[in-house]
Amino acid sequence: MRILVTGGAGYIGSHTCVELIHAGHQPIIIDNLSNSNIEAVRRVKALTKQSVPFYEADIRDHSMLERIFQTESIDAVIHFAGWKAVGESVQKPLEYYHNNITGTLVLCDVMRTYGVKNLIFSSSATVYGEPAFVPITEECPKGKISNPYGQTKAMLEQILTDLYVADPEWNIVLLRYFNPIGANESGQLGEDPRGIPNNLVPYIAKVAIGALPALGVFGNDYPTKDGTGVRDYIHVVDLAKGHVQALKKLEPNSGVNIYNLGTGNGYSVLEVLHAYEKACGKTLPYEIKPRRSGDIAICYCDASRAKEELGWKAEKTLEEMCIDSWRWQSMNPNGYVGA
Ligand code: NAD
Ligand code: WQD
Repeated sequence: MRILVTGGAGYIGSHTCVELIHAGHQPIIIDNLSNSNIEAVRRVKALTKQSVPFYEADIRDHSMLERIFQTESIDAVIHFAGWKAVGESVQKPLEYYHNNITGTLVLCDVMRTYGVKNLIFSSSATVYGEPAFVPITEECPKGKISNPYGQTKAMLEQILTDLYVADPEWNIVLLRYFNPIGANESGQLGEDPRGIPNNLVPYIAKVAIGALPALGVFGNDYPTKDGTGVRDYIHVVDLAKGHVQALKKLEPNSGVNIYNLGTGNGYSVLEVLHAYEKACGKTLPYEIKPRRSGDIAICYCDASRAKEELGWKAEKTLEEMCIDSWRWQSMNPNGYVGA
């Protein structure tokens, strides 16, 4: 299939392009590089030895999107493009709502005009808020969301569902990712956040490479095994393969399907830190800090629906996630910058 990948220069998008190509599909990338580097696209091409059309453009640019749909024949869209920094979204709600919501509205409008009604959307475990139960199944009710970023995901799930209700020709898959970490095992692709990382593993990676002095552990008084927060970390390559499998669900009359993509295992902050220490062969300093506002104690999923209906299951262990993250970080101490 020929797949338009919005946000394909980003962390999950670039890994997904590689897996799409391995599975015989042709990705076409659109990205405005607002949170990514063109070098990631070059590396996707180098790793796969395949040409990948790339459009440096904003998905809110209606006429540019029209030109892309006129130029390329497109069977389906995998829609990653959006901003994702939780704290920044609290500071810049208008920018986040405009980018994530308007961007998706424009994209869907142009898709409709060109009769492309197959869409896979990047949603998030964040829509469950403080989960009503764990492991979280897709039936778990959506929870109270404490930030505009998370709101955009919950709203977009509703908007896309409404779109299907109005026009059942749409085939939509909503993928709720848990915590993607790790990197392509070549060390050529990985997560390259700008500035000081917000998320746990990129932060640990910066401590390991010596760019930051110590990890701040946000709270050690949660009702968990060691008091630190528990999450469902999933290798980004497993996550990418989940998208390839989800393409099979975009058959006529498939409706709106929702899948959790996680491993089903919960690891604490300190367990992740210790796994990373093993991977990089260093002791990594940390200090206990107050809880981070908006954080929840425990979040991990039941991924059995994805296994039953998509034939997909996360395969990689926490150890492999840390080894691959460290390979990426040590081979690219400054990320893609300067490459
Ligand atoms: P990322 O920032 O690395 O990738 C997103 C890409 O979209 C970037 O390359 C950015 O330049 C591009 N982009 C943003 N706005 C755009 C616009 N208006 N037009 C064109 N391109 C635009 O993030 P990621 O981690 O790869 O996440 C991909 C998607 O998955 C996002 O929608 C994110 O919300 C969602 N998600 C991520 C996580 C996570 O922890 N990484 C978890 C759940 C869901
Ligand atoms: C994981 C654990 C922190 C950093 C976020 C988004 C979510 C989704 C995935 C997009 C928590 C602790 C972290 C640090 C720490 N993204 N931590 N020190 O918060 O589970 O999820 O990314 O959809 O929407 O909210 O991920 O990696 O930030 O935190 O102790 O420096 O690590 O408190 O327990 P989170 P995270």
